[in-house]
Amino acid sequence: LGDILNSSISTREAPVSSPLRAAQEDPTHPDVAKSAFPEPRLAVHEIQGNIIPGFLKDFETLLFLRIEDADLCKLWLSHIHPLIATAEEVLAFNRLFKALRFRRGHETKAIKATWINIAFSYRALRSLTSGTALDLRRKDFLDTSFRSGMARQSSALGDPTDSDAEGHPDNWVIGGPLNEADILLIIQSDDRDDLLDQVQQIEESIYTFRHQGTRFPGGVRILYKEYGATLPGAQAGHEHFGFLDGISQPGIRGYVSDDSTDLLTPRQNPGNPHQGKPGQDLLWPGEFVFGYPGQDVQKPVEEPGQIVRAGPDWAANGSFLVFRRLRQDVGAFHSFLYETGKRLQRSPEFIGAKIVGRWPGGAPLSRTGQEDDAALGYNDCANNDFQYFNASAEQESSTSDEQCARPDRFPLSPADPTGLRCPAFAHIRRAYPRDDITPEGRGDSEAQKSASSRSDTQTHRLLRRGLPFGPPSRSTPDAPFLDSAERGLLFIAYQTSIERQFEFIMQRWLNDPDFKQKGAGFDLLIGQNSNRSRERTAPLVLDDPAQPVTLTATQEWVVPTGGGYFFAPSLSAIEKIFKS
Ligand code: HEM
Repeated sequence: LGDILNSSISTREAPVSSPLRAAQEDPTHPDVAKSAFPEPRLAVHEIQGNIIPGFLKDFETLLFLRIEDADLCKLWLSHIHPLIATAEEVLAFNRLFKALRFRRGHETKAIKATWINIAFSYRALRSLTSGTALDLRRKDFLDTSFRSGMARQSSALGDPTDSDAEGHPDNWVIGGPLNEADILLIIQSDDRDDLLDQVQQIEESIYTFRHQGTRFPGGVRILYKEYGATLPGAQAGHEHFGFLDGISQPGIRGYVSDDSTDLLTPRQNPGNPHQGKPGQDLLWPGEFVFGYPGQDVQKPVEEPGQIVRAGPDWAANGSFLVFRRLRQDVGAFHSFLYETGKRLQRSPEFIGAKIVGRWPGGAPLSRTGQEDDAALGYNDCANNDFQYFNASAEQESSTSDEQCARPDRFPLSPADPTGLRCPAFAHIRRAYPRDDITPEGRGDSEAQKSASSRSDTQTHRLLRRGLPFGPPSRSTPDAPFLDSAERGLLFIAYQTSIERQFEFIMQRWLNDPDFKQKGAGFDLLIGQNSNRSRERTAPLVLDDPAQPVTLTATQEWVVPTGGGYFFAPSLSAIEKIFKS
């Protein structure tokens, strides 16, 4: 019984706050309106719920629409508007769900929900607001990449420029020059049947809906539809290559009701009040939602920067949504791990962990360099608590039931500035270099450079909301299996600057073989070499740092096959649009 109790869900998750908590003296819920840098109240009834806190459902449908008649589309939007889930609703659900699961110790179907969110391309917003008080010719979006759209930015993202290549926008299943979507509807549910019911209702409303006793067509056409879902069984929560995903997300400052101790992100690290869970740095909400203070590269990470604005005033409480359909060739990736492992006399899992920066079960290489540790990977008080430049600090004991008690059964992460343990080319180190010294680092000492790099790095973060699509593969790194099934990741990320966040990460971090030092190599997982050969290499240190072995990937395992840049407006902005 002891083993069963110990392996229960409570070991995976940081303690939860009571969903109906009343204000009280509690270190996980300090009064942030009274702190040295007062945190803002978030307009959770305005912000769409997949931005914060995120739907986190198992089943998803994405509907990509083209506007055919702007006036009819506005009428249809007035019909859809009440169905759009707010941050307030999703947060209330997620809190109750977590509290139930925590107390019961296992997954629960006691409550379930189906949520809808919406986002618009720049072209759609221009057409819907044209000639109205919201017209973008009066005050336009500042983000030039949003205005261009992903297809036109594709070559800058490293995608193939050869129009015969699968990854070229001409061949995308959605979002290419001929099939760019105007509207993206995200429908997610805990239950597959509920999802299908909801999607059917929406599709029917697009065909015809009733307004003041008369039937109208929706003024939009479905261009493309895609299903996503968490993988079944033991692969739940993993992406198709077999790695646990969605472990590391930025923490967000701010409170969500009149009670300024009612925090979006409880402070659960007893050793650091500027983190949510241990290792999860808290950021100012303007990095992800317009109308709030963001980060400032010149100041310590803890201090707020300027209010972040999109351009049009009505864009407050909205966020940019980047969508990318990424096909994954699981058999080819596993064959590479298998062959490379054989050549270097290491296990295929070891090679995979070096490429990702985490073991399949989620444990970071920084904390366990030689083998996977499922308990560490599953423990969210520990699985994100590591740095690269500095060694991890010993944590203080817990001071509250709701904080993370010292997870002392796991080894701490040593300083690893040169990447002996977690290589500089590893996907997670590339996508978020934490306290690494980057070219933006300033100061006389290495420590100062690391601190100023961190301030800059925190202006290049993403809220990731992706889910896998396509059938699970039977391939494993030990027994690779090639097939031609369509599967991959429906990558979705929210941010307030497509240029400074998504595109910067792609161009300056993932695709640059010389970041953060010359010859560091490509992110072999998803980095792209825009040369015609598309070949990618990375130097892997096994025993002797002076003699790394070169890993060479002659093909890409992740290929972009669709995408788009969208804006997810606040609830009141959507109302303004359809009333305009
Ligand atoms: C099929 C494509 C991809 C796969 C298989 C993949 C896989 C993974 C995995 C296994 C993790 C570790 C889990 C975690 O730390 O939460 C991760 C983390 C991450 N990935 Fe990806 N990823 C993909 C695409 C992307 C793209 C396109 C971006 C951004 C442009 C991206 C950015 C990130 C970031 C920011 C993290 C978190 C790093 C951290 O905070 O330490 N990923 N990814």
